[in-house]
Amino acid sequence: MRTSTPPAPGPSDPTAAVRRDRAAVVCGVGGYVPPRVVTNDELSRFMDTSDEWIRKRTGISRRHFADPGQATSDLAAEAGRRALESAGVDTVDAVVVTTTTPDRSCPATAPLVATKLGLEGVAAFDVSAVCTGFVYGLASAAGLIATGVAERVLLIGADTYSAILDMEDRTNAIIFGDGAGAVVLRAGHADEPGAVGHFDLGSDGSGEELIMVAAGGSRQRKSPGDVSRQDEHFSMRGKEVYRHAVHRMSASARAALELGGWKAEEVDHLVPHQANIRILHTVAEELGLPKERCVSNIGSVGNTGAASIPLALVDAVGDGTVKAGDRILLTAFGGGLTWGACLLRWPSLPPVRPSHDNGGTPA
Ligand code: COA
Repeated sequence: MRTSTPPAPGPSDPTAAVRRDRAAVVCGVGGYVPPRVVTNDELSRFMDTSDEWIRKRTGISRRHFADPGQATSDLAAEAGRRALESAGVDTVDAVVVTTTTPDRSCPATAPLVATKLGLEGVAAFDVSAVCTGFVYGLASAAGLIATGVAERVLLIGADTYSAILDMEDRTNAIIFGDGAGAVVLRAGHADEPGAVGHFDLGSDGSGEELIMVAAGGSRQRKSPGDVSRQDEHFSMRGKEVYRHAVHRMSASARAALELGGWKAEEVDHLVPHQANIRILHTVAEELGLPKERCVSNIGSVGNTGAASIPLALVDAVGDGTVKAGDRILLTAFGGGLTWGACLLRWPSLPPVRPSHDNGGTPA
Protein backbone atom coordinates (compact mmCIF):
# COMPACT_ATOMS: atom_id res chain seq x y z
CA MET A 1 0.00 0.00 0.00
CA ARG A 2 1.28 3.41 -0.88
CA THR A 3 -0.16 6.50 0.73
CA SER A 4 0.62 10.10 0.06
CA THR A 5 -1.48 12.96 1.41
CA PRO A 6 -5.00 12.30 2.76
CA PRO A 7 -7.69 12.18 0.05
CA ALA A 8 -8.90 15.64 -0.85
CA PRO A 9 -12.36 16.32 0.58
CA GLY A 10 -15.20 17.09 -1.82
CA PRO A 11 -15.93 20.69 -2.79
CA SER A 12 -19.07 20.83 -0.60
CA ASP A 13 -17.21 19.72 2.52
CA PRO A 14 -17.18 22.71 4.94
CA THR A 15 -13.92 21.53 6.57
CA ALA A 16 -12.12 21.31 3.24
CA ALA A 17 -9.83 24.28 3.93
CA VAL A 18 -8.69 22.74 7.22
CA ARG A 19 -8.30 19.20 5.98
CA ARG A 20 -6.59 19.50 2.62
CA ASP A 21 -3.01 19.82 3.90
CA ARG A 22 -3.58 18.68 7.47
CA ALA A 23 -0.74 16.37 8.51
CA ALA A 24 0.83 14.83 11.59
CA VAL A 25 3.93 16.73 12.72
CA VAL A 26 6.58 15.39 15.12
CA CYS A 27 6.84 17.78 18.08
CA GLY A 28 8.61 15.65 20.73
CA VAL A 29 10.77 12.57 21.04
CA GLY A 30 11.98 10.37 23.90
CA GLY A 31 13.76 7.07 24.45
CA TYR A 32 14.50 4.75 27.32
CA VAL A 33 16.57 1.61 27.79
CA PRO A 34 16.55 -0.33 31.08
CA PRO A 35 19.70 0.08 33.22
CA ARG A 36 20.97 -3.50 32.97
CA VAL A 37 23.68 -3.79 30.31
CA VAL A 38 24.40 -7.26 28.93
CA THR A 39 27.70 -7.50 27.05
CA ASN A 40 28.66 -10.10 24.47
CA ASP A 41 31.19 -11.46 26.96
CA GLU A 42 28.39 -12.01 29.49
CA LEU A 43 26.42 -14.03 26.90
CA SER A 44 29.57 -16.02 26.04
CA ARG A 45 29.71 -17.22 29.63
CA PHE A 46 26.60 -19.37 29.21
CA MET A 47 26.28 -19.95 25.45
CA ASP A 48 28.68 -21.12 22.78
CA THR A 49 29.50 -17.77 21.20
CA SER A 50 32.09 -14.99 21.42
CA ASP A 51 32.30 -11.21 21.47
CA GLU A 52 34.27 -11.35 18.22
CA TRP A 53 31.65 -13.47 16.37
CA ILE A 54 28.74 -11.32 17.50
CA ARG A 55 30.43 -8.00 16.65
CA LYS A 56 31.65 -9.22 13.28
CA ARG A 57 28.38 -10.87 12.16
CA THR A 58 25.90 -8.34 13.62
CA GLY A 59 27.70 -5.15 14.73
CA ILE A 60 26.33 -5.59 18.27
CA SER A 61 28.60 -5.09 21.31
CA ARG A 62 25.98 -4.98 24.05
CA ARG A 63 22.27 -4.62 24.71
CA HIS A 64 20.03 -3.74 27.65
CA PHE A 65 17.75 -6.28 29.34
CA ALA A 66 14.82 -5.38 31.56
CA ASP A 67 14.83 -6.79 35.08
CA PRO A 68 12.17 -9.49 35.65
CA GLY A 69 9.93 -6.95 37.42
CA GLN A 70 10.05 -4.56 34.45
CA ALA A 71 7.43 -5.06 31.72
CA THR A 72 6.96 -3.45 28.31
CA SER A 73 4.45 -0.94 29.71
CA ASP A 74 7.10 0.27 32.19
CA LEU A 75 9.64 0.91 29.42
CA ALA A 76 6.94 2.45 27.21
CA ALA A 77 5.68 4.77 29.95
CA GLU A 78 9.20 6.10 30.62
CA ALA A 79 9.88 6.75 26.91
CA GLY A 80 6.42 8.31 26.62
CA ARG A 81 7.04 10.57 29.62
CA ARG A 82 10.28 11.80 28.02
CA ALA A 83 8.56 12.44 24.68
CA LEU A 84 5.79 14.46 26.38
CA GLU A 85 8.48 16.48 28.20
CA SER A 86 10.31 17.06 24.93
CA ALA A 87 7.06 18.27 23.33
CA GLY A 88 6.31 20.46 26.35
CA VAL A 89 2.80 19.00 26.73
CA ASP A 90 1.06 17.00 29.42
CA THR A 91 -1.88 15.69 27.47
CA VAL A 92 -2.69 13.97 24.17
CA ASP A 93 -5.89 12.64 22.58
CA ALA A 94 -4.60 9.13 21.90
CA VAL A 95 -1.83 6.75 22.93
CA VAL A 96 -0.68 4.17 20.39
CA VAL A 97 1.77 1.48 21.51
CA THR A 98 3.44 -0.78 19.00
CA THR A 99 4.97 -3.96 20.40
CA THR A 100 5.52 -7.70 19.90
CA THR A 101 5.92 -8.25 23.63
CA PRO A 102 2.81 -6.77 25.27
CA ASP A 103 2.50 -7.06 29.05
CA ARG A 104 -0.25 -9.64 28.44
CA SER A 105 -1.87 -11.14 25.32
CA CYS A 106 -5.10 -9.51 26.57
CA PRO A 107 -5.69 -6.62 27.11
CA ALA A 108 -3.63 -4.26 24.95
CA THR A 109 -0.70 -2.48 26.61
CA ALA A 110 -1.56 1.08 25.49
CA PRO A 111 -4.43 1.73 27.96
CA LEU A 112 -2.15 0.78 30.86
CA VAL A 113 0.62 3.05 29.52
CA ALA A 114 -1.89 5.90 29.22
CA THR A 115 -2.94 5.39 32.84
CA LYS A 116 0.68 5.26 34.01
CA LEU A 117 1.18 8.62 32.31
CA GLY A 118 -1.91 10.11 33.96
CA LEU A 119 -3.71 10.31 30.61
CA GLU A 120 -7.02 9.08 31.94
CA GLY A 121 -9.81 8.52 29.44
CA VAL A 122 -7.84 9.01 26.21
CA ALA A 123 -8.11 6.62 23.25
CA ALA A 124 -5.46 3.90 23.55
CA PHE A 125 -4.69 0.84 21.44
CA ASP A 126 -1.82 -1.38 20.28
CA VAL A 127 -0.47 -1.86 16.77
CA SER A 128 1.17 -5.22 16.00
CA ALA A 129 3.60 -5.38 13.08
CA VAL A 130 6.70 -6.82 14.79
CA CYS A 131 9.86 -4.89 13.81
CA THR A 132 7.92 -2.75 11.29
CA GLY A 133 5.65 -1.67 14.14
CA PHE A 134 6.96 1.87 14.47
CA VAL A 135 6.38 2.73 10.79
CA TYR A 136 2.89 1.16 10.89
CA GLY A 137 2.23 2.99 14.16
CA LEU A 138 3.35 6.27 12.61
CA ALA A 139 0.93 5.75 9.72
CA SER A 140 -1.89 4.89 12.15
CA ALA A 141 -1.20 7.93 14.33
CA ALA A 142 -0.90 10.16 11.25
CA GLY A 143 -4.28 8.82 10.12
CA LEU A 144 -5.92 9.73 13.44
CA ILE A 145 -4.63 13.28 13.03
CA ALA A 146 -5.29 13.67 9.29
CA THR A 147 -8.93 12.61 9.74
CA GLY A 148 -9.45 15.00 12.66
CA VAL A 149 -10.04 12.17 15.17
CA ALA A 150 -7.12 13.47 17.24
CA GLU A 151 -5.18 16.73 17.51
CA ARG A 152 -2.25 15.13 19.31
CA VAL A 153 -1.05 11.51 19.55
CA LEU A 154 1.66 9.82 21.61
CA LEU A 155 3.18 6.93 19.64
CA ILE A 156 5.47 4.52 21.49
CA GLY A 157 7.47 1.59 20.09
CA ALA A 158 8.43 -0.71 22.97
CA ASP A 159 9.70 -4.25 23.27
CA THR A 160 11.02 -6.57 25.98
CA TYR A 161 12.53 -9.29 23.82
CA SER A 162 14.40 -10.72 26.80
CA ALA A 163 11.00 -12.06 27.95
CA ILE A 164 10.53 -14.26 24.86
CA LEU A 165 14.08 -15.18 23.81
CA ASP A 166 15.33 -18.74 24.15
CA MET A 167 18.69 -18.22 25.84
CA GLU A 168 19.76 -21.64 24.53
CA ASP A 169 19.30 -20.44 20.92
CA ARG A 170 22.59 -18.69 20.26
CA THR A 171 21.63 -17.54 16.75
CA ASN A 172 18.77 -15.36 17.97
CA ALA A 173 19.52 -14.65 21.62
CA ILE A 174 22.54 -12.51 20.72
CA ILE A 175 20.61 -10.13 18.47
CA PHE A 176 17.83 -8.63 20.56
CA GLY A 177 17.64 -6.10 23.38
CA ASP A 178 14.93 -4.27 25.33
CA GLY A 179 13.91 -0.62 25.06
CA ALA A 180 11.28 1.94 24.13
CA GLY A 181 11.19 5.00 21.89
CA ALA A 182 8.38 7.52 21.50
CA VAL A 183 7.25 10.51 19.49
CA VAL A 184 4.51 13.06 20.06
CA LEU A 185 2.66 14.04 16.89
CA ARG A 186 0.46 17.12 16.59
CA ALA A 187 -1.85 18.40 13.89
CA GLY A 188 -0.03 20.65 11.45
CA HIS A 189 0.61 21.12 7.75
CA ALA A 190 2.18 18.79 5.22
CA ASP A 191 4.85 21.32 4.23
CA GLU A 192 6.20 22.15 7.70
CA PRO A 193 9.31 20.53 9.24
CA GLY A 194 8.36 17.43 11.22
CA ALA A 195 5.44 16.48 8.94
CA VAL A 196 5.39 12.70 8.41
CA GLY A 197 4.71 11.09 5.03
CA HIS A 198 4.79 9.85 2.38
CA PHE A 199 4.40 6.22 3.43
CA ASP A 200 4.92 2.86 1.77
CA LEU A 201 3.55 -0.15 3.70
CA GLY A 202 3.35 -3.82 2.76
CA SER A 203 3.02 -7.41 3.99
CA ASP A 204 3.30 -11.07 2.93
CA GLY A 205 1.66 -13.59 5.27
CA SER A 206 3.14 -16.53 3.39
CA GLY A 207 6.35 -15.80 5.30
CA GLU A 208 4.64 -16.23 8.68
CA GLU A 209 6.97 -19.01 9.80
CA LEU A 210 10.20 -17.08 9.22
CA ILE A 211 9.75 -15.04 12.39
CA MET A 212 7.38 -16.22 15.09
CA VAL A 213 6.44 -17.33 18.56
CA ALA A 214 4.66 -20.55 17.53
CA ALA A 215 2.60 -21.31 20.62
CA GLY A 216 0.32 -19.39 22.92
CA GLY A 217 -2.17 -18.03 20.37
CA SER A 218 -5.31 -19.64 18.96
CA ARG A 219 -3.39 -21.72 16.36
CA GLN A 220 -1.17 -23.63 18.75
CA ARG A 221 -2.66 -23.48 22.20
CA LYS A 222 -0.53 -23.44 25.26
CA SER A 223 -1.54 -26.02 27.80
CA PRO A 224 0.87 -27.36 30.39
CA GLY A 225 3.11 -30.09 29.05
CA ASP A 226 1.99 -29.57 25.43
CA VAL A 227 4.41 -26.98 24.20
CA SER A 228 8.07 -27.49 23.37
CA ARG A 229 10.65 -25.08 24.69
CA GLN A 230 11.31 -23.96 21.12
CA ASP A 231 7.65 -23.24 20.34
CA GLU A 232 7.04 -21.08 23.37
CA HIS A 233 9.98 -18.82 22.52
CA PHE A 234 10.76 -16.40 19.72
CA SER A 235 12.21 -18.13 16.65
CA MET A 236 13.69 -16.70 13.46
CA ARG A 237 15.18 -18.29 10.34
CA GLY A 238 18.06 -15.83 10.25
CA LYS A 239 19.57 -16.46 6.83
CA GLU A 240 16.23 -16.22 4.96
CA VAL A 241 15.17 -13.23 7.04
CA TYR A 242 18.44 -11.51 6.17
CA ARG A 243 17.69 -11.70 2.43
CA HIS A 244 14.08 -10.55 2.82
CA ALA A 245 15.13 -7.69 5.10
CA VAL A 246 17.63 -6.28 2.58
CA HIS A 247 15.20 -6.59 -0.33
CA ARG A 248 12.09 -5.27 1.42
CA MET A 249 13.74 -2.38 3.27
CA SER A 250 15.43 -1.18 0.06
CA ALA A 251 12.32 -1.56 -2.11
CA SER A 252 10.04 0.12 0.42
CA ALA A 253 12.50 2.99 0.87
CA ARG A 254 12.62 3.48 -2.91
CA ALA A 255 8.80 3.48 -3.10
CA ALA A 256 8.51 6.16 -0.39
CA LEU A 257 11.19 8.29 -2.09
CA GLU A 258 9.31 8.08 -5.36
CA LEU A 259 6.01 9.07 -3.73
CA GLY A 260 7.62 12.07 -2.08
CA GLY A 261 9.58 13.09 -5.18
CA TRP A 262 12.88 12.90 -3.29
CA LYS A 263 16.07 11.69 -4.92
CA ALA A 264 18.07 9.22 -2.82
CA GLU A 265 21.05 11.59 -2.77
CA GLU A 266 18.86 14.26 -1.13
CA VAL A 267 18.43 12.05 1.95
CA ASP A 268 20.58 13.31 4.82
CA HIS A 269 19.96 10.30 7.06
CA LEU A 270 18.68 6.81 6.43
CA VAL A 271 17.21 5.57 9.72
CA PRO A 272 16.56 1.85 9.22
CA HIS A 273 15.20 -0.71 11.64
CA GLN A 274 18.34 -1.84 13.48
CA ALA A 275 18.36 -5.50 12.36
CA ASN A 276 22.05 -6.21 11.75
CA ILE A 277 24.77 -3.69 10.78
CA ARG A 278 25.53 -5.67 7.62
CA ILE A 279 21.86 -5.47 6.57
CA LEU A 280 21.81 -1.71 7.21
CA HIS A 281 24.94 -1.04 5.20
CA THR A 282 23.71 -3.20 2.32
CA VAL A 283 20.40 -1.30 2.26
CA ALA A 284 22.30 2.01 2.19
CA GLU A 285 24.44 0.69 -0.66
CA GLU A 286 21.36 -0.50 -2.60
CA LEU A 287 19.94 3.01 -2.30
CA GLY A 288 23.22 4.55 -3.44
CA LEU A 289 23.85 6.21 -0.06
CA PRO A 290 27.24 6.27 1.67
CA LYS A 291 27.13 4.22 4.86
CA GLU A 292 27.99 7.37 6.86
CA ARG A 293 24.42 8.53 6.13
CA CYS A 294 23.01 5.42 7.76
CA VAL A 295 22.07 6.11 11.40
CA SER A 296 22.87 3.20 13.69
CA ASN A 297 23.01 2.56 17.43
CA ILE A 298 22.79 -1.22 17.07
CA GLY A 299 26.26 -1.58 18.65
CA SER A 300 24.99 -0.42 22.03
CA VAL A 301 21.34 -1.55 22.07
CA GLY A 302 21.02 -4.47 19.62
CA ASN A 303 17.74 -5.03 17.77
CA THR A 304 15.02 -3.55 20.00
CA GLY A 305 12.10 -4.44 17.70
CA ALA A 306 9.43 -1.75 17.53
CA ALA A 307 11.65 0.57 19.59
CA SER A 308 14.59 0.43 17.23
CA ILE A 309 13.78 3.30 14.84
CA PRO A 310 12.71 5.83 17.51
CA LEU A 311 15.67 4.85 19.74
CA ALA A 312 18.07 5.32 16.82
CA LEU A 313 16.49 8.72 16.16
CA VAL A 314 16.69 9.79 19.81
CA ASP A 315 20.36 8.86 20.01
CA ALA A 316 21.19 10.54 16.69
CA VAL A 317 19.32 13.73 17.61
CA GLY A 318 20.89 13.65 21.08
CA ASP A 319 24.46 13.49 19.76
CA GLY A 320 23.83 16.14 17.09
CA THR A 321 23.98 13.80 14.08
CA VAL A 322 20.39 14.60 13.09
CA LYS A 323 19.60 18.32 13.00
CA ALA A 324 16.57 20.49 12.34
CA GLY A 325 15.75 20.56 8.63
CA ASP A 326 17.52 17.27 7.79
CA ARG A 327 15.74 14.97 5.34
CA ILE A 328 15.15 11.56 6.88
CA LEU A 329 14.14 8.26 5.35
CA LEU A 330 12.81 5.59 7.72
CA THR A 331 12.64 1.99 6.54
CA ALA A 332 11.76 -1.22 8.36
CA PHE A 333 11.15 -4.92 7.95
CA GLY A 334 9.75 -7.45 10.39
CA GLY A 335 7.76 -10.57 11.12
CA GLY A 336 4.49 -11.05 9.30
CA LEU A 337 6.20 -10.54 7.01
CA THR A 338 5.75 -6.76 7.10
CA TRP A 339 7.69 -3.81 5.75
CA GLY A 340 7.33 -0.06 5.46
CA ALA A 341 9.08 3.24 4.85
CA CYS A 342 8.34 6.89 5.53
CA LEU A 343 9.79 10.32 4.73
CA LEU A 344 10.28 13.01 7.33
CA ARG A 345 12.01 16.38 7.57
CA TRP A 346 13.37 16.73 11.11
CA PRO A 347 11.81 19.57 13.16
CA SER A 348 13.50 21.95 15.57
CA LEU A 349 13.19 20.47 19.08
CA PRO A 350 14.69 21.30 22.48
CA PRO A 351 17.76 19.21 23.48
CA VAL A 352 16.88 15.52 23.72
CA ARG A 353 17.70 13.41 26.77
CA PRO A 354 19.81 10.36 25.77
CA SER A 355 17.98 7.02 26.00
CA HIS A 356 20.68 5.53 28.25
CA ASP A 357 20.28 8.35 30.81
CA ASN A 358 18.84 6.01 33.43
CA GLY A 359 21.55 5.58 35.99
CA GLY A 360 23.04 2.65 34.02
CA THR A 361 26.27 2.38 32.04
CA PRO A 362 26.27 4.90 29.19
CA ALA A 363 25.36 3.22 25.90
N1 COA B 1 28.05 -17.52 17.90
C1 COA B 1 28.92 -18.26 17.22
N2 COA B 1 28.59 -18.96 16.12
C2 COA B 1 27.32 -18.88 15.71
C3 COA B 1 26.36 -18.11 16.38
C4 COA B 1 26.76 -17.41 17.52
N3 COA B 1 25.93 -16.64 18.25
N4 COA B 1 25.18 -18.22 15.73
C5 COA B 1 25.39 -19.04 14.68
N5 COA B 1 26.68 -19.43 14.69
C6 COA B 1 27.35 -20.31 13.73
C7 COA B 1 26.39 -21.26 13.03
O1 COA B 1 26.17 -22.42 13.80
C8 COA B 1 27.14 -21.56 11.76
O2 COA B 1 28.11 -22.52 12.02
P1 COA B 1 28.48 -23.62 10.91
O3 COA B 1 29.00 -22.85 9.73
O4 COA B 1 29.50 -24.46 11.59
O5 COA B 1 27.20 -24.33 10.61
C9 COA B 1 27.87 -20.24 11.45
O6 COA B 1 27.92 -19.52 12.70
C10 COA B 1 27.16 -19.38 10.45
O7 COA B 1 25.78 -19.32 10.83
P2 COA B 1 24.76 -18.49 10.02
O8 COA B 1 23.38 -18.67 10.57
O9 COA B 1 25.00 -18.75 8.58
O10 COA B 1 25.26 -17.03 10.40
P3 COA B 1 24.90 -15.67 9.70
O11 COA B 1 26.12 -15.03 9.23
O12 COA B 1 23.74 -15.81 8.76
O13 COA B 1 24.41 -14.82 10.95
C11 COA B 1 22.38 -13.99 11.90
C12 COA B 1 23.26 -15.21 11.67
C13 COA B 1 21.14 -14.41 12.65
C14 COA B 1 23.17 -12.98 12.70
C15 COA B 1 22.00 -13.41 10.52
O14 COA B 1 21.47 -14.41 9.72
C16 COA B 1 21.03 -12.29 10.62
O15 COA B 1 21.38 -11.22 11.09
N6 COA B 1 19.80 -12.47 10.12
C17 COA B 1 18.80 -11.45 10.09
C18 COA B 1 18.39 -11.08 11.46
C19 COA B 1 17.43 -9.95 11.41
O16 COA B 1 17.50 -9.10 10.60
N7 COA B 1 16.48 -9.98 12.28
C20 COA B 1 15.53 -8.98 12.43
C21 COA B 1 14.54 -9.02 11.37
S1 COA B 1 13.22 -8.02 11.84
